[in-house]
This record gives sequence, structure tokens and C-alpha cells, in this order.
Amino acid sequence: MKRILSGITPSGDGSLHIGNYLGAVRQYVQLAKEYECFYFVADLHALTTIQDKAQFQKNVETLILNDLALLQGFLTEEEFNRITFYRQSDVGLHPELQTILNNVTPFGLLKRAHAYKDKLQKEVDEEDINLGLFNYPVLMASDILLYKPDLVPVGKDQKQHVEITRDIAGRFNATFKVKTLKLPDAYIPEEVAVIMGTDGKRKMSKSLGNIISMFDSEDVIRKQVNSTYTDPTRAHADDPGHIEGNMVFTYLDFFGEKEKVDTLKKQYTEGKVSDVDVKEYLFASLMKTFTPARKKYDELKNNPQKVKEILAKGAQKARMIAGQTMVEVRDAIGLTNRYSIGSPNMVHGSSKENTKNGSPIGSGMTIGIEDFAKVEMRVGKVLEAKNKEGSEKLIRLVVDVGETTPRIIFTAVRGYGYTPEDFPGKQFFFITNLAPRKMMDEESQGMIMATDGADKKPLFISAEGMPIGSRIR
Ligand code: ADP
Ligand code: TRP
Repeated sequence: MKRILSGITPSGDGSLHIGNYLGAVRQYVQLAKEYECFYFVADLHALTTIQDKAQFQKNVETLILNDLALLQGFLTEEEFNRITFYRQSDVGLHPELQTILNNVTPFGLLKRAHAYKDKLQKEVDEEDINLGLFNYPVLMASDILLYKPDLVPVGKDQKQHVEITRDIAGRFNATFKVKTLKLPDAYIPEEVAVIMGTDGKRKMSKSLGNIISMFDSEDVIRKQVNSTYTDPTRAHADDPGHIEGNMVFTYLDFFGEKEKVDTLKKQYTEGKVSDVDVKEYLFASLMKTFTPARKKYDELKNNPQKVKEILAKGAQKARMIAGQTMVEVRDAIGLTNRYSIGSPNMVHGSSKENTKNGSPIGSGMTIGIEDFAKVEMRVGKVLEAKNKEGSEKLIRLVVDVGETTPRIIFTAVRGYGYTPEDFPGKQFFFITNLAPRKMMDEESQGMIMATDGADKKPLFISAEGMPIGSRIR
């Protein structure tokens, strides 16, 4: 199945407008019906411009709610639950990969990037351009490459960043003679590449104040609609009007009902309908389109715990996938060696060397409380157990750890006399935030906990009677 990834920066005031919806989120919604999707809030990116604590917090919260409300408003619960939705800063691997990719990124490539060039053209002094902005495309490349997506749906203004990402990925692979990083394609449907603003002159953008918003009050949206550019040559409602370049009709093509819009266009060119009436229809169409999302927005806003749960689940999945890529990246550049103790971002010893030498704890090392606190252990119920074909040791467990889909978790205990019959229907403790581990042709998505019994025979710790999915603290 194709994998899709995209993110939005909580710039401006963090809220989205119909240009963002048509240019980006609408594609997210469509793609989520069919593909495996990773969508995130690019909070670290916003630091290039937003350097005020309260505003930053507010923007990130606003964008999280906007994004989630749209996704939930336009998708069924089942479709939504398949999406991995997370916050960039919850996955510490993005800046780690950025640091590595910096070294295969030519300075000149970044000098040609729009975000930086635009600032220079606005005659901002180089002294006033921060390195975060200059280096923004490398962070974006990391955001993308960690997840190996096939497609990156974005508006046209982001096309160059995806091209830079391909360039950086190619350079990494060539430098280290690997195929680790996958070159993604941008996905930009032509008709929504650039949505013009209500002024009819420039691209719709928060910073230009030419937007129509989706989650503001009806009054605000009505004002935005009423200020939309129509046909300046038309003085009276009975003058024949023009459709071409008339922003109200541009938006109606997306949000109105086709038949009604066709009729209105005809009447408009014949001078049989007023600007006020067409605008009224645009307002009604927008309300109709976004009512489910607006409802979700209110629901989410009143339920912060629910939002946190969505983000926690997303971050966990994202860390798992990104962690896999980082294992390969670290290995490709030679960060792993005989003395590796594993990545601080991954609980599981990630390098081959490391696991060969046994766990750091077993070898007499200690870990800090912060590291220990990163271990996530959950109560899981074994749904199925089978011997893994082609292996003498492995038993393959299918385990419900309280998520929408069960996990596949291997345990290598046949040598101790365990058989698959020992597991189904029983509850044990599982570590659930390890980087996935390849076991033959599959990946183990966690680890079952055991203690040493007599002769070091592993004994599984029962978690009977505890709620499935509950965590150990
Ligand atoms: P803004 O320009 O309003 O600050 P962002 O840069 O945060 O918006 O864009 C978020 C997403 O929405 C990106 O994928 C971007 O390409 C898309 N987007 C923004 N404005 C438009 C527009 N006017 N038309 C089409 N897509 C847009
Ligand atoms: N730069 C994008 C924007 O301003 C946001 C973004 C950050 C992004 N990382 C990404 C988009 C990775 C797609 C993929 O909207």
C-alpha cells in the first residue's frame, strides 16, 4: 500500500483557511480513504518565525484542532483511526536526522530555496535571517525521509522543498553507498495548486489577510465572503457580469452544487442575479461543507484529553517507523560500532553489535530514571499463537494491547519447552515502544516480559484481570 506523508506549519495564528483546505487538507482526506497516511503538525518549523512562548503554544493548539476537526469532519471514525497523526516535536528523531543530513547538503542548494530567497528579495538583511529559516528545507527533508513515503501532498509553494528532499536523499544514498532513503514525489493536483485570495490578486495566505476561514464565527466568515472580489466593471445587479477571475465563482466551483452554480453563472452574465445573492449562496455552501468539521472542532476543543490520546497514539507509531529508518541511517554512516550502547531515542538496543553484546543493564551498566521512564509497558491479551515457520525458537504472538489493530510480537522460547498452546487467551505484560525488530520475514512490534525462572527458563508474568492496554507506571 502506498504511504502518504504531509505536515503543516503552525505559522500566522495557527488556523487554516480554505486555501489550505483545498491545497492540502482536502487531498489528505481523499488519500486517507485509501492509503496509509502520516500527517503531522510541524511545530519545530514554526520557530523560524514565532518566538513568543504564549503565541507559539496557542498556534500549535489551534492547528492541532483545525487539522483534527477537518480530518474527523470529512472521514468516518474508522478511516480517521487509520491515520497516524502526530506532532513533529514529539518525535525527537526529526532533528537528529536533520543534523546528519546537514552534512550531505550543499550550501548552494539551500541558498536557492524560496523561503530564504524571498526574504532576501524583501531586502531583509542577511544578519536578520536566522539559521532555522535557512536550514528549513533540511528539517523538512528529515520530516519526510524518516517515514519513506511514496507521496507528499502539498500546495505548489512546497514543491521545491520536496525536490530538495529528493536531492538530499540521493546525495545521502550516493555518499554512503546505500539505498536507505526513499525519494518521494510531491502530489499536487493542478486545479488546487494555488488558490487565490479574496482580493483576487495574490495567493490566499494568512499573512496577506485575503482569506476565508473555516472555524471562525459565522459573522467573521460572512464578512470575509462579502469582501470577496467579484467583477469591478459591474455597477448594478442588472448589469451583465463576468465569471472569469470572479473569486466568488472560483470558490463556488469547489463548494457549490454544480447545477445551481451553472444556473447562477448564467444568470450573472445576463445581469439577472446580484453580487449579494451569489455571495449569500457561497456563504451557505461553505457552512454546509464545513458544518461537520465545525462540530468536531467544538467537540475536540472541549475534550483536551481526547486530543492528547490521539497525539500520544500517533507519536508512538511515528517513533516506531522513524526509529526503523534511523537504525538504518546510523548503520549506513557508521555511528554504530563496537562500543555502541544504542540510540538515546530508542529503548531497544538498535545496532546489531549492541544486541550481540547483551543488554547494557545486564553488563553492569545503569540507566537513568529519565531513560527508564521512556519504557512503555502495557497489559496485552494474546489472541493467537503459532510456531514461526522456518524457525526452531520463535513463537509468533498476535496481541491485543488496546490499540485499534493487534500487534505481532515474537518470543524465542520454544527451546525452553514452551508451545503455542501456552499463550492464547492469556494476559501478560508487553513492552510496546521498542523500535520494531526484524524477525525472519516479519517485524516484532514489541516484547513480552519474562523473569528468570529455574535454570534461566523464562517465566511470563501474568496480567490476568487487568484492563487490556493499561500501562505500567
Ligand atoms: P500560508 O501560506 O497561509 O501561511 P502554509 O504555508 O502554512 O499557509 O501552508 C500549509 C499548506 O497549505 C501547504 O501545503 C501549502 O502548500 C498549502 N497552501 C497554503 N496556501 C495555499 C493556497 N493559497 N493555495 C493552495 N495551497 C495552499
Ligand atoms: N513546509 C510545510 C508548510 O509550510 C510544512 C511541512 C514541514 C511539510 N515538513 C513537511 C509538508 C513535510 C510536507 C512534508 O506548509
